[in-house]
Amino acid sequence: MKVLVNGVGNIGTTLLQVLTTHRDLLGVEAVLAHKATVRPWDVPQLERLKGAGVVVVGDSFAAQASLADVMHDVDYVFDAGRNGGGLDRRRLYDEFPRLVGACAQGTEKDFGRPHVLGLGMDASETRHTFIPSCNTHSALAVLRTLTDGHLDDVLHGDFVVARRSEDIGNHERLVAGNVVARHLDPVLGTHHAIDADAVLQVLGKSLPIQSSDITTPSQFMHATRFSLRLASAPAVHEVQDRIERAAYVTSTQVFDSNKVFEIGRRFGLGGRLFHQAIFVGENLLVKGDTVSGWALVPQEGNTVLSTMSAFLQRAYGVAEADERIAALAEQLLVGPL
Ligand SMILES: NC(=O)c1ccc[n+]([C@@H]2O[C@H](COP(=O)([O-])OP(=O)(O)OC[C@H]3O[C@@H](n4cnc5c(N)ncnc54)[C@H](OP(=O)(O)O)[C@@H]3O)[C@@H](O)[C@H]2O)c1
Repeated sequence: MKVLVNGVGNIGTTLLQVLTTHRDLLGVEAVLAHKATVRPWDVPQLERLKGAGVVVVGDSFAAQASLADVMHDVDYVFDAGRNGGGLDRRRLYDEFPRLVGACAQGTEKDFGRPHVLGLGMDASETRHTFIPSCNTHSALAVLRTLTDGHLDDVLHGDFVVARRSEDIGNHERLVAGNVVARHLDPVLGTHHAIDADAVLQVLGKSLPIQSSDITTPSQFMHATRFSLRLASAPAVHEVQDRIERAAYVTSTQVFDSNKVFEIGRRFGLGGRLFHQAIFVGENLLVKGDTVSGWALVPQEGNTVLSTMSAFLQRAYGVAEADERIAALAEQLLVGPL
C-alpha cells in the first residue's frame, strides 16, 4: 500500500511518525506527505520527515513534486487538514485512479462514515471514513468501559469536557478565562455528544447522553468529567476491574494533566499518548447505579489507533486489521500511567 498524509500539522505529523516507525506492521510500502503551505520555518521539519523515509510533496516545497504528480501512485489518503474543507479534498481524492479509501479527522465530519476503534465497527466496505474528535473518542471510551461493552446499559450519560485552549505547539487562540461552549443541540448539547450519537447510530443504537464544554486557560490536555447512570449498580471494585480490562484505555494515579502529558513526552512515540481515555483511577464516585469521575484525554494521540484501524480494515479486511491493530497497540500504548 502506498499512502498519503495530506496536511503536515499536529495530527498529520503524528500519523507520519506512526506510519514510518511501524511501516512493516501496517503493510505500507511508501509514505507520502503533502503540505499545502510551506513557510521557511517548516522546511527543517519536512527535511526531518524526508530523513525518516517520507516522500514530501508540495507545490511550494522547492524541487518537489506536486500532488498532481503523485496522485497515480496513492492507494490510501489520511486527510489531516482542519479547515472544514474536507469535502472538497474528498472530491480531489476520488480522482486518484488507485484510491482504495480515505479518512479525515475531527473537524471534517461530513467526510464519511464515522469509525471508532473498540466498538466492533467495520470500515472495510467504506471508501470514505470519518474519525471523530479526541473528546468524542474519550466519551465513547468511557461509555464502552464503564458498561463493560454493554452500551445499552446506559440509562443516562453526562459529559463535561474541560477543554485545553489550544495545542501546545500553536499560537492562535489561548484564552484568558474559562469559556463556555454553546449547546448546539437542545438534547445532546455540544458537538461531542452529537458526534458520539452519530457513531452510535452506525451501530444501530441511541443512548440518552449529553455533553457540555468549557475551554480553560491550559495547553496540556483535555479532561472529561463523566457521570453515568447504569442499568445495574456496580461495586467500586467492579468499576476498577472494567477499567483495567478495557482495551485502549488506562488509568493513572496522577491528578495533574501536565504531569500525565509529561509521561507522554518522555515515553510515547513522538511524545504522544495513544489511549482513548485515561481514567483518574483513585478518584471514582460510585453511588448506587451512578458512576462519576474524571478522564484525561491525550488529544494528539487518542484518535490514531482508530485512524489506523479504518485504514487497515479497508486495506486488509477486519480479521487481519484486528491482528495488526493489537500488535500496533502493544507498541504504542504506554501504561498504566
Ligand atoms: N490536534 C489534536 O489534538 C486533534 C485531536 C483529534 C483530532 N484532531 C483533528 O485533526 C485535524 C487536524 O488537526 P491538527 O491539530 O493537526 O491541525 P493543525 O496542525 O492546526 O493543522 C493541520 C493542517 O491543516 C492545514 N491548515 C491549518 N490552518 C489552516 C487554515 N487556516 N486554512 C487551511 N488549512 C489550514 C495545514 O495544512 P498543510 O500542512 O498542508 O499546510 C495544517 O498542517 C482536525 O480535523 C482536528 O479536529 C486534532
